[in-house]
Amino acid sequence: MAVSRSSQRNRLLVLIFTTAVVALGLYLFYKLFGVRLELGHQYANVFKIPALALWALFAYLGVRVLNAAIFDFAFRIRRGYEAPSLVRNIFTLVAFTILFVVIFKSLYSEVNLGALFTTSAIFGVIIGLALQDTLGNFFSGISLHADRPFQVGDVIVVGQQKHTGVVEGITWRAIKIRTFQNHVVLVSNSNAAKEAIEVCPRDNLNARLVLFETVYTDSPAKTIHVIREVVRDADNVSQKIVPIVRIRNLGDSAIEWEIKYWLDDYAKYNDTDALVRQRVWYALRRSGLTFGSPARTIQVERKRAAKPVTAAEGITDRLSAVAVFAPLSTEEIEQLAAATVGHVFAPGETLIRAGEEGSSMFVVHNGRVQVQVTENGRPRTVAVLSEGDFFGEMGLFTGEPRTANVIALDETEVLEIGHAAMKLLFETNPGLAESISWTIAERKAELAAGSQQAAPDSVAESAGLLASIRRFFGLR
Ligand code: CMP
Repeated sequence: MAVSRSSQRNRLLVLIFTTAVVALGLYLFYKLFGVRLELGHQYANVFKIPALALWALFAYLGVRVLNAAIFDFAFRIRRGYEAPSLVRNIFTLVAFTILFVVIFKSLYSEVNLGALFTTSAIFGVIIGLALQDTLGNFFSGISLHADRPFQVGDVIVVGQQKHTGVVEGITWRAIKIRTFQNHVVLVSNSNAAKEAIEVCPRDNLNARLVLFETVYTDSPAKTIHVIREVVRDADNVSQKIVPIVRIRNLGDSAIEWEIKYWLDDYAKYNDTDALVRQRVWYALRRSGLTFGSPARTIQVERKRAAKPVTAAEGITDRLSAVAVFAPLSTEEIEQLAAATVGHVFAPGETLIRAGEEGSSMFVVHNGRVQVQVTENGRPRTVAVLSEGDFFGEMGLFTGEPRTANVIALDETEVLEIGHAAMKLLFETNPGLAESISWTIAERKAELAAGSQQAAPDSVAESAGLLASIRRFFGLR
């Protein structure tokens, strides 16, 4: 916008400069021929033509300046919005035509302009043929402005070639669309008037459909729940309407699904569709659901695709490197590894939501997560946890709601440890509950410090936590 305004200003300056040069040239020309530059003076006809051109140039310049004064200054400053470019163009055309007629009449008072236009066959042919398209565009442009079927900033699909993009402007000649490949497409107004135009207004909740398939052995109810939850959480998916996940068709080899979701900013639908597909992939994988495969895919491959991530190598190494599990024996670590379930999350996905109930803790196996709390409506990052760190222990060991959001920063694989696995370990390792209660007390103190609440006394807090962990897990 800033660029186009400065280029407009440059063009006006060039016009003023050209006018000044032409005026000077003509002035010298008339001086040389000893004729005074005055309207109404009796020149020879040949001298009147340059004078007509010069006055026309002055008139055009005057109209441009008036146009800028009215539409740039008065409209934008007084009324706070930009006048449509078509209105500006019509103003320029009408004002210039009137001025030109006035100038023409004062130079060639003997010529009857009306008769010239109405009787001249040449003008008729020119207007009839040469201006046919131009006038068509012009009047279609007027009707587009009157109807206002779309506005600058809306996404439209127009023409048989399905030109799709964001409307950047409507001039007297064409609609200017910026496509999603950042190309500019100009669709002439007269063509647009003849075609169906699909309009996705900027201030409207526009929906999209994303398709995927699952195998027939997967539960539809589970698929609907899992996919709806991950899609509603994706960026640019509107929070105002819950996405719809439904079976579109029972295909030959797979259940065909469609996700209908609504966007905050429709112009970004390509990115959002891609993000939704990505979330579907991660969600299906985490939940043990399987993408539908063509009928020719052999069964062995399907089974391999559905294999849970718990078999990931290095789980025992990862768990034995977690500080709080240091007192555990090799057998206990192996027992724990067998009880963990692996999950993979996409960057930006929420693993834990503050306030929800939770009965597991997680160890970061690969990637990173951020721990975030919301203060005064704004997110504050409390910690970034990476491989070997754990989280979710507060909810698991105290039974209280989750204290923070935990969000994947990279593609992140976590190992989930449930209540039962921890209970077994507590019974054989009394010291484990104590070291975990210390971590919880420290993290609680960090949360309190950030939120400017009174920081709890860590020693007393840890003792209280230890007692509540013992109670919660039924330990002596
Ligand atoms: P829980 O409350 O179950 O869910 C959110 C988790 O964020 C919480 O458990 C902790 O594991 C983690 N968490 C909260 N505060 C901090 C912190 N200051 N540093 C690291 N992790 C934290």
